[in-house]
Amino acid sequence: MSRTKYDVDRLSEILVGYDRKVPLLNGEMVQYINFDNAASTPTLKPVLDTIVEFMDWYSNIHRGTGFKSQLSTHFFEKSREIVARFFNINTKDHVIIFGKNATEAINKLARRVPLPDDSIIMVTKMEHHSNDLPWRFRKPVVHIDVDGQGRLDWDDFEFKLNANKGKVGLVAITGASNVTGYINDIHRVAEIAHRNGARVMVDAAQLAPHRSIDIKPAGHPQHIDFLAFSAHKIYAPFGLGVLIADRGTFKEGNPDMVGGGTVDLVSEDYAFWTDVPEKEEAGTPNIVGAIALGKALSVIMDIGMDAIAEHEARLTRYALHKLKKIPGVVFYGSVDEDDVHNRLGVISFNLQDKPHGLGGSILNYEAGIGVRNGCFCAHPYVKCLLGVTMDQSKVLEAEILQHDRSHIPGAVRMSFGLYNNESEIDRFASALEKIARNEIEGEYELNAGSGEYFPKNAGIDFDNYFQL
Ligand SMILES: Cc1ncc(COP(=O)(O)O)c(C=O)c1O
Repeated sequence: MSRTKYDVDRLSEILVGYDRKVPLLNGEMVQYINFDNAASTPTLKPVLDTIVEFMDWYSNIHRGTGFKSQLSTHFFEKSREIVARFFNINTKDHVIIFGKNATEAINKLARRVPLPDDSIIMVTKMEHHSNDLPWRFRKPVVHIDVDGQGRLDWDDFEFKLNANKGKVGLVAITGASNVTGYINDIHRVAEIAHRNGARVMVDAAQLAPHRSIDIKPAGHPQHIDFLAFSAHKIYAPFGLGVLIADRGTFKEGNPDMVGGGTVDLVSEDYAFWTDVPEKEEAGTPNIVGAIALGKALSVIMDIGMDAIAEHEARLTRYALHKLKKIPGVVFYGSVDEDDVHNRLGVISFNLQDKPHGLGGSILNYEAGIGVRNGCFCAHPYVKCLLGVTMDQSKVLEAEILQHDRSHIPGAVRMSFGLYNNESEIDRFASALEKIARNEIEGEYELNAGSGEYFPKNAGIDFDNYFQL
């Protein structure tokens, strides 16, 4: 029996749209299974209820004199306090900046973080593009390798730190992989980086919804200097991203975006910037998104992150156990059922004889299950996991640049959220078994331009399900 008002085994009851039925190719309607939580999670009912209630009070924030404006300001700032509590942040040392998503947060940091002229940045080979590309535009980037299993190669990390001694300004690393689910020991990374004079930025887009994160006090050897995450992956999909940084970072320099809200004073020829976080939040912020995030994090803290982690580890063990028995399934990353606490419930695989796009499509059209397929915005990592050679890469690149994605490498990914359960995994496993046995109802065609597969004559009219 849970000690909180939420029972971790019945969290689907507080998910918006959990019971929604979707059409199959054969015309049957079945309850949708969402195994694409690594992309975005659904909304929690308490979040939606809170927003609906808040809209009565909604008004623009900060400078409004009216009651509604003051109330909106109060709760917008309260959301920041909740974020601080969620990551155990001392707001004297750290600032919490609201923006659009994790990608924007990382881009902002990449543009604004002070770095010496001749410094370099280290990122890992397991990064989502959002925690790799922004850094390349700022400074030379050195990639830390992964081992044969796709885990961070610690020897390579230390080796490259030594090889670039005194020059590494920042180490940017994902808290957990969106492809293999591997969790990185971010505090060990921080300790090594700090010892070498570098700061650490953690992309917590995947980790934050599934494990508790304590960024630790500034000055602690294992402290996380910068952290970014997205509300849409943590049950508040209303368009908010968060950047946490130490306060000094944004003291100097111009904001990366300027305009309303960023200034104390403007004349015709100069402007004085205001303090953070407002200095870095140009224009009207996403007030509703902030309220939603504050509520989502409060609910998660009420449920208890340990209970969520335990529940998802149990699901991961159960899924690995079942899926490993299906002939022809090739996994990327660990399938060790005893090692589910060091990874998230993110499982990537392929069916030996079938393109990933086809597998994903059949799961949707014939089983009503939502997954994701492709390279998951982590091309270098996925190519490495799949063993794509340089020569093969060159051929593929030439095809893709000609808008032919027929042979694009990739995998199918299932990913769990706090509300998923074993019976959904059972349905998934039996659907996958059928596909593996070639018991496929539809006839699927490849769209070479997109690399996607669609059943012939499917003809779904989305207007029958929702209207604007
Ligand atoms: C590890 C990781 N980092 C960053 C992102 C980017 O997040 P967003 O699309 O919210 O900017 C994602 C999204 O999938 C991700 O998985």
